[in-house]
Amino acid sequence: MTDYETITRAQYREAATAISSRTAHRPTIGLILGSGLNALADEATDADHIPYKEIPHFATTSVVGHVGALVIGRLASQVVLILQGRSHAYEGISQQRVVFPVRVMHELGIRTMIVTNAAGGLNPAFQPGDLMLINDHIGLMAITGRNPLWGPNDETLGPRFPSMNTAYDLALRRLALRVAGELGIELRQGIYVGLGGPAFETPAEVRLLRLLGADAVGMSTVPEVLAARHLGMRVLGLSGITNAAIANPDAEEEADHEEVLAAGRTLTPKLMALLRGILTAMPEPR
Ligand code: HPA
Repeated sequence: MTDYETITRAQYREAATAISSRTAHRPTIGLILGSGLNALADEATDADHIPYKEIPHFATTSVVGHVGALVIGRLASQVVLILQGRSHAYEGISQQRVVFPVRVMHELGIRTMIVTNAAGGLNPAFQPGDLMLINDHIGLMAITGRNPLWGPNDETLGPRFPSMNTAYDLALRRLALRVAGELGIELRQGIYVGLGGPAFETPAEVRLLRLLGADAVGMSTVPEVLAARHLGMRVLGLSGITNAAIANPDAEEEADHEEVLAAGRTLTPKLMALLRGILTAMPEPR
């Protein structure tokens, strides 16, 4: 297995140029939509759609529930670029390929990224249907080596050793909590742990992840956040809790992707209302 793949800045630029040539919009905020959350992109108005397969070097996503298209348009008072579906290393691609769209966003001038995902609830107080503001992450998949920042470092993108203690921007988190309060949307807060997947966790692993202090578990987000922070972008992360991770080895129910997608669709209106509120409350682009 190759641990990394070298992708050059010229390739990010090539993709960015291809995107710019197909839209008159100049987005300032990037949004990544997780499993079952695609419908959020339909809310964008005056939108241009670009399938990933028509963008140079973009990985096409193979996961059911991930559309695989870029949507660029207006949402609330902002011009946004929406990734309708993401790629994961478990599909058989490098982490550098997984974060390719994040680096393209940066080439397009985007400096704020909002990342969403479907996640299993580890915190016993969480229910399916809850929204969680990510206030920190445990990058288990990246700590053990599958980190998108492995390989030669391009100093023009970011430093060799980027800090991650401010990964989830405090001002954006405060804004999200304020907006949620104003809209009467309950917003949980917690730590997201990112695993390599694609298998769901065993009950023993679920109990281990709880011991680590994680509140929600998923198979994404960590690589994109590492890449975005390397580039100095501001990040806001939101998890939709689609299922309760099963900690009891004698339980008979099973975690499955259909359940995740169905709960994601149920969560979409609430998440959409929150995102609209957040985008409206965000300062106008400078
Ligand atoms: N585990 C891992 N990833 C997930 C889960 C889960 O329970 N739910 C949604 N994504």
